[in-house]
Amino acid sequence: MCGIVGYVGTQQAVPLLIRGLRRLEYRGYDSAGIALQSESDGLRVAKAAGKIVNLENEIADWDFSCHLGIAHTRWATHGEPTQLNAHPHTDTNHEIAIVHNGIIENYRALKEFLTRQGFDIRTDTDTEILVHLIRFSYQGDLTKAVRLALTQVEGTYGVAVVSSLHPGQIVAARMGSPLVIGHGNGENFVASDVSAMLDHTNRVVYLENGEIATVSANDYHVTNIENEQIIPQVEEVSWTLEQIEKGGYDHFMLKEIYEQPHTLQQATRIRLNKDEGIPRLNGLNLQQEELRRIKRVYITACGTSWHAGLVGEYMIEELARIPVEVEYASELRYRSPIFDPESVFFAISQSGETADTLAALREARYHGITCLGIVNVVGSSIARETDGGVYIHAGPEIGVASTKAFTSQVIVLGLIATLLGRMRDLSVQQGQEIIEAMEKIPDQVEHILSQADAVKAIAQEYYKSNNFLYLGRGINFPVALEGALKLKEISYIHAEGYPAAEMKHGPIALIDENMPVVVIALRDAVYDKVMSNIQEVRARRGRIIAIANEGDTEIADKVNHVIYIPETYRLLTPLLSIVPLQLLAYYIAVMRGCHVDQPRNLAKSVTVE
Ligand code: G6P
Repeated sequence: MCGIVGYVGTQQAVPLLIRGLRRLEYRGYDSAGIALQSESDGLRVAKAAGKIVNLENEIADWDFSCHLGIAHTRWATHGEPTQLNAHPHTDTNHEIAIVHNGIIENYRALKEFLTRQGFDIRTDTDTEILVHLIRFSYQGDLTKAVRLALTQVEGTYGVAVVSSLHPGQIVAARMGSPLVIGHGNGENFVASDVSAMLDHTNRVVYLENGEIATVSANDYHVTNIENEQIIPQVEEVSWTLEQIEKGGYDHFMLKEIYEQPHTLQQATRIRLNKDEGIPRLNGLNLQQEELRRIKRVYITACGTSWHAGLVGEYMIEELARIPVEVEYASELRYRSPIFDPESVFFAISQSGETADTLAALREARYHGITCLGIVNVVGSSIARETDGGVYIHAGPEIGVASTKAFTSQVIVLGLIATLLGRMRDLSVQQGQEIIEAMEKIPDQVEHILSQADAVKAIAQEYYKSNNFLYLGRGINFPVALEGALKLKEISYIHAEGYPAAEMKHGPIALIDENMPVVVIALRDAVYDKVMSNIQEVRARRGRIIAIANEGDTEIADKVNHVIYIPETYRLLTPLLSIVPLQLLAYYIAVMRGCHVDQPRNLAKSVTVE
């Protein structure tokens, strides 16, 4: 989820690359770097941790009369967002520089190979491996060396490579991570998305997977991985810059909702080991014996991450039979919690910087128990202060209301629960069944998203309501809480989530024809009970929107609206049931004219108490 921009032409490259990086900053912003190529000085590289302004300070006294360069803004996946790990990475001779988006999955094997060949690996990144591999393959033709190196790579990449041995040339290649060539007048661009070049040209060539381009100021050649020539199709972009940053979606929140099939895949890729039914979570840094000894699990978090933690409680208790306690970080930090020495503590946080979660983590550390993180932002404070953990790899989440981070946290908790279960009584078949169900989840989410118009129609009917009630039972009770939170955060409608049966002990007094009630009514052990709760709402003229399983035609007669979702392994249902609720909240907020991505009074990352 990083950003790449490259330029070759007659203008000064530096200001142009910096402006391009700024356009891409929404994609990742933990560190940045630039490599310039000039006839006189060869390659010049600068990098800085933090925002792009830090990079600007770094190069403030540089001579800008240079007309070719590549630049990168990073969203860390391998290695902390330090200056050393920032891109571009260079070979040992400082003659080749690379910027890279994506993940090299076989980087460990490649690293061992290169180390055996005598290469000195200096950073924690997978990208540095690539530049050494290019050097290893280099015999006078840069494009050929890039092609040869990439044939050794498993994973995803969008790369731009420059070399002092090939002045006036950028080599760009794509597999999985988008890469675009911008076609200008006596100048050409390379970027991970068109927003970085749209100030200069709207004529672009989108590289396809496996394609490699050799780009100079007046020309570009595209070939495929077999070295067959490709005739590039030049397209004209008609979108505005703002539309493009949002990928054509009206809001970041909607974009992030639609990214979930991809982010769920990212969270599980290379972690699903179907043969043994045991997820691979090496980042936990725990041996099998240590995993078996765990007697209790504590989970702490805030907001949406806390809801994910509640789902995790159901998963871990059922699959691993280990008692779990989930607590708001803000409460935990001021109690005197009693920590079992043979327990593990999970801090869940999208940002990895939430002040209360960090303070609760420090309290747990003080008690000497193993502390782990489930975090999105690589190298964030929580990631650094834990003994190990699992990154969710959801990419930057810009919308204040968390969506894709929630589903990724939940699927990662599912992996952890399955791992802990397999270290105890969960059979290999059960492990495999869960992993197979996880593999299907991205397509199932995609299928739910294809029904967005139906959700929008429901939103149209209820967007003027002043109150909403969300009901769910079992593992879908936290989903009711999260659905209600989504609605109140962005639409400012009062919404409450409740365990369905608990409704009788208070909220039922509120129900009349003006109270829409969202009920998660999936075919599971408590289905009949939830149907009774639906009858109770109906008897008081409440309007019911049900989330039900496909094929459940009976429910349609008992409620006002049904949104159908596919069946999955019971403990994974929150991954599907939350999606229509995210969409419902989104459409209602838009119809009420609310500022969806930056709701009033809220902050994306709450770094104060
Ligand atoms: C804020 C955000 C929420 C988020 C919560 C916890 O309240 O608005 O969307 O769930 O913080 O953030 P974290 O980064 O720790 O998950």
